[in-house]
Amino acid sequence: MAGPELRYDGQTVVVTGAGGGLGREYAVFFGSRGANVVVNDLGGSFKGEGKGSKAADVVVDEIKAAGGKAVANYDSVENGDAIIKTAIDAFGRVDVLVNNAGILRDVSFKNMKQADWDLIYRVHVYGAYKCARAAWPYWRKQKYGRLISTASVAGLFGSFGQTNYSAAKLALVGFTETLAKEGFKYNILCNVIAPIAASRMTETVMPPDVLEHLHPKWVVPLVGVLTHKSSTETGSIYEVGGGHIAKLRWERAKGALLKTDDTLTPGAIAAKWKDVVNFAEPEHPQGPANAMELLETAAQLPPSAPAEKLDFKDKVVLI
Ligand code: NAI
Repeated sequence: MAGPELRYDGQTVVVTGAGGGLGREYAVFFGSRGANVVVNDLGGSFKGEGKGSKAADVVVDEIKAAGGKAVANYDSVENGDAIIKTAIDAFGRVDVLVNNAGILRDVSFKNMKQADWDLIYRVHVYGAYKCARAAWPYWRKQKYGRLISTASVAGLFGSFGQTNYSAAKLALVGFTETLAKEGFKYNILCNVIAPIAASRMTETVMPPDVLEHLHPKWVVPLVGVLTHKSSTETGSIYEVGGGHIAKLRWERAKGALLKTDDTLTPGAIAAKWKDVVNFAEPEHPQGPANAMELLETAAQLPPSAPAEKLDFKDKVVLI
């Protein structure tokens, strides 16, 4: 069952990196559902080399040919002000920002060049910041905004050869969760997706029969839900791709509580190691408040029996 058709009539949606892959799919979707679309793309290679206007122009033409409204922008996301200005100049407003533009510079940490680190940071983190920063005053003023940040399972779990990319992608989680808190009272909802999809970025690392099931269009509907005016969801992370959509959250083990005095030694922690890693009855913290309660409880504990000898044998539970 397809469900109700969500529409975005009269809204302006900015999609960065919309000249191909996932970004193109978002742009075409929003264009087909009544939105004014800013199709941003620098037009370079997947490693971030070169630039050109063709990638964005092709998508704009496609949206217009189907009866939609779209304009192109060819700036790097590092120049987010110019991208948002394109939205304001063309359509007079900005409602949704999908921070999607991205590049890869996969290389082992040992062999990574400074430029590989710097460029990944500049496109993913600085670029997302600049675009969101430029949209923010409009969103606050109109008391409405929707932000999607694009993380990756590489950032959430680590991935060989991707220290630069993983660091940048997880940075976007902290960035977005904080914006969700700051934007909430202005009806600015901010969420993170960790997509998986066939694109020029993934075609070099996944076999064709797997890629076949991972068309980027299967990521779009979740982005449609999260950016719709009816959504109330904010500050969350979702894995999405190939028909699988799932929210992710933090989990805290039972944990050890020790009195903060001279008895809090490495040996005392080793003695409580089973509690430190005990996920049998986990908590799902959503902010620092709950952690502060735990710290207060620890401060009021009676002193622990000294246990200086470090002995992890039989105490470490593998999970
Ligand atoms: P893609 O390479 O097909 O598309 C990325 C687009 O961003 C390209 O059109 C490129 O020209 C544009 N771009 C790159 N640097 C830019 C800049 N500085 N300014 C403006 N545009 C720029 O890649 P794909 O797969 O569609 O990736 C989209 C996003 O999803 C990226 O942020 C990527 O890191 C993320 N992602 C993708 C996954 C996948 O399985 N495809 C997995 C996890 C994350």
